[in-house]
Amino acid sequence: MIRAGIVGISGFSGKVLLDILLKHTGVRVTYVAAHTTTGRVDHIWPEFKNRTDLVCEKYTLAGAVKNCDVIFLALPHTESMNTVDGLLAAGKKVIDLSADYRLKKVSLYKKWYHVDHKDSQNLSKAVYGLPELFREKVRKARLVANPGCYPTAAILGLAPMVSIYPGNIDSLTIDAKSGVSGAGRKVAEGLMHSFVNENFKAYRVLNHQHTPEIDQYLSHLAKRNMNVTFVPHLLPIDSGILETIYIRLKTKIFDKKLFEFYRKFYKTETFVRVLDLGSQPEIRNIVKTNFCDIGLAVSEDGRMVVVTSAIDNLVKGASGQAVQNMNVMFGFKETEGLL
Ligand SMILES: NC(=O)c1ccc[n+]([C@@H]2O[C@H](COP(=O)([O-])OP(=O)(O)OC[C@H]3O[C@@H](n4cnc5c(N)ncnc54)[C@H](OP(=O)(O)O)[C@@H]3O)[C@@H](O)[C@H]2O)c1
Repeated sequence: MIRAGIVGISGFSGKVLLDILLKHTGVRVTYVAAHTTTGRVDHIWPEFKNRTDLVCEKYTLAGAVKNCDVIFLALPHTESMNTVDGLLAAGKKVIDLSADYRLKKVSLYKKWYHVDHKDSQNLSKAVYGLPELFREKVRKARLVANPGCYPTAAILGLAPMVSIYPGNIDSLTIDAKSGVSGAGRKVAEGLMHSFVNENFKAYRVLNHQHTPEIDQYLSHLAKRNMNVTFVPHLLPIDSGILETIYIRLKTKIFDKKLFEFYRKFYKTETFVRVLDLGSQPEIRNIVKTNFCDIGLAVSEDGRMVVVTSAIDNLVKGASGQAVQNMNVMFGFKETEGLL
Protein backbone atom coordinates (compact mmCIF):
# COMPACT_ATOMS: atom_id res chain seq x y z
CA MET A 1 0.00 0.00 0.00
CA ILE A 2 1.39 3.41 -0.85
CA ARG A 3 0.34 6.62 0.89
CA ALA A 4 -1.00 9.39 -1.34
CA GLY A 5 -1.68 13.05 -0.68
CA ILE A 6 -3.91 15.43 -2.62
CA VAL A 7 -3.15 19.14 -2.40
CA GLY A 8 -6.10 21.11 -3.79
CA ILE A 9 -8.81 18.76 -2.51
CA SER A 10 -11.43 21.55 -2.59
CA GLY A 11 -10.93 21.98 -6.35
CA PHE A 12 -12.57 20.02 -9.16
CA SER A 13 -9.53 17.91 -10.05
CA GLY A 14 -8.78 17.25 -6.38
CA LYS A 15 -12.31 15.89 -5.94
CA VAL A 16 -12.00 13.57 -8.96
CA LEU A 17 -8.58 12.39 -7.74
CA LEU A 18 -10.05 11.39 -4.39
CA ASP A 19 -12.99 9.64 -6.05
CA ILE A 20 -10.58 7.51 -8.13
CA LEU A 21 -8.03 6.89 -5.36
CA LEU A 22 -10.67 5.71 -2.87
CA LYS A 23 -11.37 2.83 -5.30
CA HIS A 24 -7.68 2.04 -5.92
CA THR A 25 -6.58 -1.21 -4.27
CA GLY A 26 -2.90 -0.23 -3.88
CA VAL A 27 -3.27 3.27 -2.43
CA ARG A 28 -4.41 4.83 0.82
CA VAL A 29 -5.15 8.56 0.79
CA THR A 30 -3.42 9.80 3.93
CA TYR A 31 -3.28 13.56 3.44
CA VAL A 32 -5.59 16.13 1.87
CA ALA A 33 -4.95 19.85 1.89
CA ALA A 34 -5.93 23.17 0.36
CA HIS A 35 -5.24 26.84 0.95
CA THR A 36 -8.21 28.64 2.54
CA THR A 37 -10.60 25.68 2.68
CA THR A 38 -10.28 23.36 5.71
CA GLY A 39 -12.44 20.77 7.49
CA ARG A 40 -14.02 17.41 6.82
CA VAL A 41 -13.92 16.40 3.17
CA ASP A 42 -17.52 15.19 3.29
CA HIS A 43 -18.52 18.71 4.32
CA ILE A 44 -16.57 20.24 1.43
CA TRP A 45 -17.90 17.58 -1.02
CA PRO A 46 -21.04 15.93 0.45
CA GLU A 47 -20.88 13.09 -2.11
CA PHE A 48 -18.03 11.60 -0.03
CA LYS A 49 -20.28 11.04 3.02
CA ASN A 50 -19.78 7.45 4.29
CA ARG A 51 -16.82 7.05 1.90
CA THR A 52 -14.11 8.87 3.88
CA ASP A 53 -13.34 10.53 7.21
CA LEU A 54 -10.48 12.57 5.76
CA VAL A 55 -10.04 16.12 7.00
CA CYS A 56 -8.63 18.87 4.82
CA GLU A 57 -5.75 20.82 6.35
CA LYS A 58 -4.03 24.00 5.30
CA TYR A 59 -1.11 22.78 3.17
CA THR A 60 2.28 22.47 4.86
CA LEU A 61 5.41 20.86 3.47
CA ALA A 62 5.95 19.04 6.80
CA GLY A 63 2.41 17.58 6.70
CA ALA A 64 2.82 16.29 3.15
CA VAL A 65 6.31 14.88 3.78
CA LYS A 66 5.29 13.10 6.99
CA ASN A 67 2.15 11.48 5.56
CA CYS A 68 2.80 10.67 1.89
CA ASP A 69 4.89 8.66 -0.56
CA VAL A 70 3.35 10.42 -3.54
CA ILE A 71 1.76 13.85 -3.67
CA PHE A 72 -0.72 15.03 -6.31
CA LEU A 73 -0.66 18.80 -6.74
CA ALA A 74 -4.06 19.92 -8.02
CA LEU A 75 -3.12 23.57 -7.62
CA PRO A 76 -3.44 26.63 -9.84
CA HIS A 77 -0.38 27.30 -11.99
CA THR A 78 2.23 29.47 -10.21
CA GLU A 79 1.36 27.71 -6.92
CA SER A 80 2.87 24.35 -7.84
CA MET A 81 6.26 25.84 -8.59
CA ASN A 82 6.45 27.10 -4.98
CA THR A 83 5.68 23.61 -3.70
CA VAL A 84 7.55 21.02 -5.81
CA ASP A 85 11.17 21.59 -4.75
CA GLY A 86 10.62 20.90 -1.05
CA LEU A 87 8.75 17.67 -1.82
CA LEU A 88 11.44 16.42 -4.21
CA ALA A 89 14.17 17.34 -1.73
CA ALA A 90 12.37 15.18 0.87
CA GLY A 91 12.52 12.22 -1.55
CA LYS A 92 8.82 12.22 -2.49
CA LYS A 93 7.32 11.54 -5.90
CA VAL A 94 5.20 14.38 -7.26
CA ILE A 95 2.50 14.49 -9.93
CA ASP A 96 1.69 18.09 -10.78
CA LEU A 97 -1.59 18.78 -12.57
CA SER A 98 -0.77 22.42 -13.24
CA ALA A 99 1.06 23.91 -16.20
CA ASP A 100 4.17 24.82 -14.18
CA TYR A 101 6.45 22.01 -15.37
CA ARG A 102 5.08 21.33 -18.88
CA LEU A 103 6.96 23.94 -20.91
CA LYS A 104 10.69 23.37 -21.14
CA LYS A 105 11.66 26.99 -21.84
CA VAL A 106 11.24 29.57 -19.07
CA SER A 107 10.85 32.29 -21.72
CA LEU A 108 7.77 30.50 -23.09
CA TYR A 109 6.38 30.10 -19.57
CA LYS A 110 6.77 33.84 -18.96
CA LYS A 111 5.20 34.70 -22.34
CA TRP A 112 2.08 32.56 -21.81
CA TYR A 113 1.63 32.62 -18.01
CA HIS A 114 2.92 36.19 -17.48
CA VAL A 115 5.20 35.43 -14.52
CA ASP A 116 8.82 34.37 -14.09
CA HIS A 117 9.35 30.67 -13.41
CA LYS A 118 10.55 30.31 -9.82
CA ASP A 119 11.79 26.69 -9.99
CA SER A 120 13.62 26.39 -13.30
CA GLN A 121 16.15 24.00 -11.71
CA ASN A 122 13.49 21.25 -11.60
CA LEU A 123 12.13 21.77 -15.12
CA SER A 124 14.60 19.33 -16.65
CA LYS A 125 13.55 16.64 -14.12
CA ALA A 126 9.88 16.84 -15.13
CA VAL A 127 8.54 14.13 -17.43
CA TYR A 128 5.48 14.93 -19.52
CA GLY A 129 2.85 12.50 -18.25
CA LEU A 130 1.22 11.14 -21.38
CA PRO A 131 1.85 7.43 -20.69
CA GLU A 132 0.76 6.32 -24.17
CA LEU A 133 3.71 8.26 -25.62
CA PHE A 134 6.29 8.59 -22.82
CA ARG A 135 5.67 5.53 -20.64
CA GLU A 136 9.30 4.53 -20.04
CA LYS A 137 10.23 8.05 -18.94
CA VAL A 138 7.19 8.24 -16.65
CA ARG A 139 8.23 4.91 -15.08
CA LYS A 140 11.52 6.43 -13.88
CA ALA A 141 10.21 9.91 -13.09
CA ARG A 142 10.11 11.55 -9.66
CA LEU A 143 8.30 14.58 -11.03
CA VAL A 144 5.52 14.21 -13.58
CA ALA A 145 4.06 17.22 -15.39
CA ASN A 146 0.54 16.01 -16.01
CA PRO A 147 -0.63 17.29 -19.42
CA GLY A 148 -3.29 19.95 -19.96
CA CYS A 149 -6.78 18.85 -20.95
CA TYR A 150 -6.84 20.34 -24.46
CA PRO A 151 -3.25 19.14 -25.16
CA THR A 152 -4.14 15.57 -24.11
CA ALA A 153 -6.94 15.33 -26.70
CA ALA A 154 -4.88 17.14 -29.35
CA ILE A 155 -1.61 15.25 -28.92
CA LEU A 156 -3.25 11.80 -28.73
CA GLY A 157 -5.31 12.70 -31.82
CA LEU A 158 -2.27 13.84 -33.76
CA ALA A 159 0.56 11.63 -32.46
CA PRO A 160 0.30 8.91 -35.14
CA MET A 161 0.22 11.48 -37.98
CA VAL A 162 3.09 13.63 -36.74
CA SER A 163 5.24 10.64 -35.73
CA ILE A 164 4.90 8.81 -39.02
CA TYR A 165 4.20 11.45 -41.70
CA PRO A 166 5.64 14.74 -40.36
CA GLY A 167 6.97 15.79 -43.77
CA ASN A 168 3.57 15.37 -45.40
CA ILE A 169 1.77 17.86 -43.11
CA ASP A 170 1.00 21.24 -44.63
CA SER A 171 -1.09 22.69 -41.78
CA LEU A 172 -2.75 21.70 -38.48
CA THR A 173 -5.91 23.40 -37.23
CA ILE A 174 -7.57 22.45 -33.94
CA ASP A 175 -11.15 23.49 -33.31
CA ALA A 176 -11.64 22.60 -29.62
CA LYS A 177 -14.72 22.68 -27.38
CA SER A 178 -14.75 22.19 -23.61
CA GLY A 179 -17.31 22.00 -20.82
CA VAL A 180 -17.25 24.60 -18.05
CA SER A 181 -15.42 22.52 -15.39
CA GLY A 182 -12.24 23.05 -17.44
CA ALA A 183 -11.96 26.44 -15.74
CA GLY A 184 -11.95 24.98 -12.22
CA ARG A 185 -14.10 25.92 -9.24
CA LYS A 186 -13.39 29.65 -9.24
CA VAL A 187 -16.32 32.04 -9.51
CA ALA A 188 -16.34 34.15 -12.68
CA GLU A 189 -19.19 35.99 -14.34
CA GLY A 190 -18.60 34.39 -17.76
CA LEU A 191 -18.85 30.93 -16.16
CA MET A 192 -22.20 31.53 -14.45
CA HIS A 193 -25.10 29.29 -15.51
CA SER A 194 -27.03 32.19 -17.05
CA PHE A 195 -24.04 33.15 -19.22
CA VAL A 196 -23.13 29.61 -20.30
CA ASN A 197 -26.47 27.83 -20.60
CA GLU A 198 -28.03 27.91 -24.10
CA ASN A 199 -24.87 29.64 -25.32
CA PHE A 200 -21.74 28.77 -27.32
CA LYS A 201 -18.69 30.90 -27.99
CA ALA A 202 -15.02 30.92 -28.87
CA TYR A 203 -12.55 32.38 -26.38
CA ARG A 204 -8.83 33.21 -26.30
CA VAL A 205 -8.84 32.78 -30.09
CA LEU A 206 -5.25 32.14 -31.30
CA ASN A 207 -4.13 33.14 -27.81
CA HIS A 208 -4.71 30.16 -25.52
CA GLN A 209 -1.90 29.11 -23.15
CA HIS A 210 -2.19 25.45 -24.20
CA THR A 211 -0.96 26.28 -27.72
CA PRO A 212 2.79 26.22 -26.89
CA GLU A 213 2.35 22.96 -24.96
CA ILE A 214 0.75 21.29 -27.98
CA ASP A 215 3.44 22.70 -30.30
CA GLN A 216 6.27 21.61 -27.99
CA TYR A 217 5.25 17.96 -27.74
CA LEU A 218 4.13 17.57 -31.36
CA SER A 219 7.51 19.02 -32.42
CA HIS A 220 9.22 16.51 -30.14
CA LEU A 221 7.31 13.60 -31.73
CA ALA A 222 7.79 14.91 -35.28
CA LYS A 223 11.48 15.73 -34.70
CA ARG A 224 10.82 19.03 -36.47
CA ASN A 225 9.05 22.29 -35.76
CA MET A 226 5.25 21.92 -35.60
CA ASN A 227 2.82 24.81 -35.11
CA VAL A 228 -0.90 24.44 -34.67
CA THR A 229 -3.72 26.92 -35.13
CA PHE A 230 -5.74 26.43 -31.95
CA VAL A 231 -9.20 27.86 -31.20
CA PRO A 232 -11.04 26.82 -28.00
CA HIS A 233 -14.78 27.18 -27.41
CA LEU A 234 -16.93 26.97 -24.28
CA LEU A 235 -19.70 24.36 -24.37
CA PRO A 236 -22.78 24.65 -22.14
CA ILE A 237 -22.04 21.31 -20.40
CA ASP A 238 -20.20 20.42 -17.18
CA SER A 239 -17.43 18.16 -18.46
CA GLY A 240 -16.02 16.84 -21.71
CA ILE A 241 -13.83 18.02 -24.56
CA LEU A 242 -14.27 17.38 -28.26
CA GLU A 243 -11.60 18.54 -30.69
CA THR A 244 -12.03 18.57 -34.45
CA ILE A 245 -8.56 18.58 -35.96
CA TYR A 246 -8.00 19.48 -39.61
CA ILE A 247 -4.76 18.19 -41.15
CA ARG A 248 -3.98 19.56 -44.62
CA LEU A 249 -1.59 17.17 -46.40
CA LYS A 250 0.91 17.75 -49.21
CA THR A 251 0.25 14.35 -50.78
CA LYS A 252 -2.85 12.24 -50.52
CA ILE A 253 -3.64 9.42 -48.13
CA PHE A 254 -6.40 6.76 -48.26
CA ASP A 255 -8.81 6.50 -45.35
CA LYS A 256 -8.32 2.74 -44.87
CA LYS A 257 -4.54 3.19 -44.68
CA LEU A 258 -4.93 6.02 -42.17
CA PHE A 259 -7.31 3.94 -40.08
CA GLU A 260 -4.96 0.95 -40.12
CA PHE A 261 -1.97 2.88 -38.92
CA TYR A 262 -3.93 4.66 -36.15
CA ARG A 263 -5.24 1.28 -35.00
CA LYS A 264 -1.73 -0.18 -35.08
CA PHE A 265 -0.23 2.83 -33.27
CA TYR A 266 -2.66 2.45 -30.36
CA LYS A 267 -3.07 -1.34 -30.56
CA THR A 268 -1.85 -1.98 -27.01
CA GLU A 269 -3.34 1.15 -25.41
CA THR A 270 -6.43 0.45 -23.32
CA PHE A 271 -7.37 4.10 -22.92
CA VAL A 272 -7.21 5.17 -26.57
CA ARG A 273 -10.08 3.86 -28.67
CA VAL A 274 -9.76 4.36 -32.42
CA LEU A 275 -13.31 4.16 -33.73
CA ASP A 276 -14.28 2.39 -36.94
CA LEU A 277 -14.40 4.54 -40.08
CA GLY A 278 -17.80 6.19 -40.24
CA SER A 279 -18.14 6.38 -36.42
CA GLN A 280 -17.52 9.58 -34.49
CA PRO A 281 -16.63 10.18 -30.82
CA GLU A 282 -19.37 11.51 -28.59
CA ILE A 283 -18.84 13.26 -25.29
CA ARG A 284 -21.49 11.08 -23.62
CA ASN A 285 -19.33 7.99 -24.31
CA ILE A 286 -16.20 9.31 -22.56
CA VAL A 287 -17.52 11.48 -19.75
CA LYS A 288 -16.42 10.24 -16.28
CA THR A 289 -13.99 7.79 -17.97
CA ASN A 290 -10.26 7.78 -18.69
CA PHE A 291 -10.79 7.01 -22.37
CA CYS A 292 -9.81 9.10 -25.35
CA ASP A 293 -12.03 8.28 -28.34
CA ILE A 294 -10.67 9.08 -31.79
CA GLY A 295 -12.58 9.30 -35.09
CA LEU A 296 -11.03 9.57 -38.55
CA ALA A 297 -12.17 10.79 -41.97
CA VAL A 298 -10.38 11.69 -45.22
CA SER A 299 -11.64 14.00 -47.98
CA GLU A 300 -12.34 12.68 -51.47
CA ASP A 301 -9.09 14.13 -52.86
CA GLY A 302 -7.17 12.47 -50.00
CA ARG A 303 -5.48 15.69 -48.88
CA MET A 304 -7.63 16.70 -45.91
CA VAL A 305 -7.69 14.46 -42.86
CA VAL A 306 -10.16 15.22 -40.08
CA VAL A 307 -9.35 13.65 -36.69
CA THR A 308 -11.90 14.01 -33.91
CA SER A 309 -10.72 13.41 -30.35
CA ALA A 310 -12.85 13.34 -27.20
CA ILE A 311 -11.91 13.10 -23.51
CA ASP A 312 -13.30 14.04 -20.12
CA ASN A 313 -11.24 17.12 -19.15
CA LEU A 314 -11.28 16.14 -15.46
CA VAL A 315 -10.41 12.46 -16.01
CA LYS A 316 -8.14 11.67 -19.00
CA GLY A 317 -7.52 15.45 -19.16
CA ALA A 318 -6.46 15.70 -15.49
CA SER A 319 -7.03 13.35 -12.53
CA GLY A 320 -7.52 10.01 -14.33
CA GLN A 321 -4.34 10.57 -16.29
CA ALA A 322 -2.57 11.58 -13.05
CA VAL A 323 -3.55 8.23 -11.49
CA GLN A 324 -2.52 6.42 -14.70
CA ASN A 325 0.90 8.09 -14.30
CA MET A 326 1.07 7.06 -10.63
CA ASN A 327 0.27 3.47 -11.64
CA VAL A 328 3.18 3.50 -14.08
CA MET A 329 5.57 5.17 -11.58
CA PHE A 330 4.80 2.67 -8.79
CA GLY A 331 4.46 -0.48 -10.90
CA PHE A 332 0.71 -0.96 -10.45
CA LYS A 333 -1.39 -2.30 -13.30
CA GLU A 334 -1.85 0.79 -15.47
CA THR A 335 -5.63 0.52 -15.50
CA GLU A 336 -5.98 0.07 -11.70
CA GLY A 337 -8.75 2.34 -10.36
CA LEU A 338 -9.55 3.60 -13.84
CA LEU A 339 -11.84 1.06 -15.52
N1 LIG B 1 -10.36 21.67 -14.41
C1 LIG B 1 -9.82 20.95 -15.37
O1 LIG B 1 -10.52 20.40 -16.24
C2 LIG B 1 -8.33 20.76 -15.45
C3 LIG B 1 -7.81 19.93 -16.44
C4 LIG B 1 -6.42 19.75 -16.54
C5 LIG B 1 -5.59 20.42 -15.66
N2 LIG B 1 -6.12 21.25 -14.73
C6 LIG B 1 -5.17 21.96 -13.85
O2 LIG B 1 -5.23 21.35 -12.55
C7 LIG B 1 -5.01 22.35 -11.55
C8 LIG B 1 -6.21 22.34 -10.61
O3 LIG B 1 -7.37 22.67 -11.39
P1 LIG B 1 -8.84 22.70 -10.80
O4 LIG B 1 -9.72 22.97 -11.96
O5 LIG B 1 -9.07 21.52 -9.94
O6 LIG B 1 -8.73 24.03 -9.87
P2 LIG B 1 -9.74 24.61 -8.80
O7 LIG B 1 -11.06 23.93 -8.90
O8 LIG B 1 -9.70 26.10 -8.98
O9 LIG B 1 -9.04 24.23 -7.41
C9 LIG B 1 -7.80 24.75 -7.01
C10 LIG B 1 -7.40 24.12 -5.68
O10 LIG B 1 -6.10 24.60 -5.31
C11 LIG B 1 -6.16 25.00 -3.93
N3 LIG B 1 -5.10 26.00 -3.69
C12 LIG B 1 -4.95 27.20 -4.30
N4 LIG B 1 -3.83 27.79 -3.83
C13 LIG B 1 -3.28 26.94 -2.92
C14 LIG B 1 -2.12 26.98 -2.07
N5 LIG B 1 -1.29 28.00 -2.08
N6 LIG B 1 -1.89 25.91 -1.26
C15 LIG B 1 -2.73 24.85 -1.20
N7 LIG B 1 -3.84 24.76 -1.98
C16 LIG B 1 -4.11 25.79 -2.81
C17 LIG B 1 -7.56 25.53 -3.75
O11 LIG B 1 -7.84 25.53 -2.37
P3 LIG B 1 -8.79 26.64 -1.65
O12 LIG B 1 -10.20 26.13 -1.80
O13 LIG B 1 -8.39 26.59 -0.23
O14 LIG B 1 -8.54 27.96 -2.33
C18 LIG B 1 -8.34 24.46 -4.53
O15 LIG B 1 -8.48 23.31 -3.75
C19 LIG B 1 -4.86 23.70 -12.30
O16 LIG B 1 -3.51 23.99 -12.44
C20 LIG B 1 -5.51 23.43 -13.64
O17 LIG B 1 -4.98 24.22 -14.68
C21 LIG B 1 -7.45 21.42 -14.58
